Amino acid sequence: MSRIVDVSNSVVINDAIDLNRVIEIIYERINSRAIQKSGEALSDNRKDIIYKVLSVFDQVFLHEGASYSDIEFLGRGATSYVFAVKSKVVKIGSSRYTKNIRNNPYILQPVLRKSFDFEGPILEGLYVEVTDRVKACKTSKDVSDDELYELYAKFRDIDLEWVDVDSRNVGRLLQDNIINWKLPTVFENDFSSGEISDIQKAGDLVVLDTDFIYEGKAPDELFNMYEDEEWDFIPIVRKFRERYEREKARKK
Ligand SMILES: Nc1ncnc2c1ncn2[C@@H]1O[C@H](COP(=O)(O)OP(=O)(O)O)[C@@H](O)[C@H]1O
Ligand SMILES: [Mg+2]
Repeated sequence: MSRIVDVSNSVVINDAIDLNRVIEIIYERINSRAIQKSGEALSDNRKDIIYKVLSVFDQVFLHEGASYSDIEFLGRGATSYVFAVKSKVVKIGSSRYTKNIRNNPYILQPVLRKSFDFEGPILEGLYVEVTDRVKACKTSKDVSDDELYELYAKFRDIDLEWVDVDSRNVGRLLQDNIINWKLPTVFENDFSSGEISDIQKAGDLVVLDTDFIYEGKAPDELFNMYEDEEWDFIPIVRKFRERYEREKARKK
């Protein structure tokens, strides 16, 4: 029996039993509403999803010549649990707002981006992403507002809008932003991995949290609908939108 009861910074993963337990705990946290509705028993569907996430780790181990004890818990984001395995990162979270975005040079290129889910009384499952590790920015000391704006503007220039603008959602590349390996799995990517040009180089800033990226512009509802629980990014995106319009007008 694994003794792991929580996924916190001090979690130590030694073997397959520990990792299985960690993924079970994440599954329960992320799907607590669904589990409340349909009972706690780990159904075959749930077991199957946990098994698939374990096999993603297996593939990363194979590629990195790594094993369970190489797994480091990097922390939590708004909705995900993030682990590093040597030079790779495995992110496990809940379903995304913008799942099928167009590939573009300004996001950290994903190796895998996939929802494993099923329709119980409500939709449940896990969302998994595998990427290269980058030097993550933590606070506003690690990245200036101007740099965030430059990155925001790059998305607008190719007719996308990135709205979850936050120092914790960006990082500096440790190598060029290209996928140089594939997971040899049967998993199909949810992601439309079109070719990209304008390859960002080691040291450049990219978006590592690839949720909330919209074709064209983000819908107005996002800015109007949630007045009592406003998204943190709204004030900064309002400012960036105005600045972008101003700079575009000046260039004309
Ligand atoms: N590829 C990566 N390399 C290094 N750290 C990462 C990477 N991806 C995520 N992180 C770290 O994990 C945190 C949470 O990831 P994020 O993608 O923002 O999750 P969420 O969608 O839950 O907000 C980030 O703020 C960052 O510190
Ligand atoms: Mg985030």
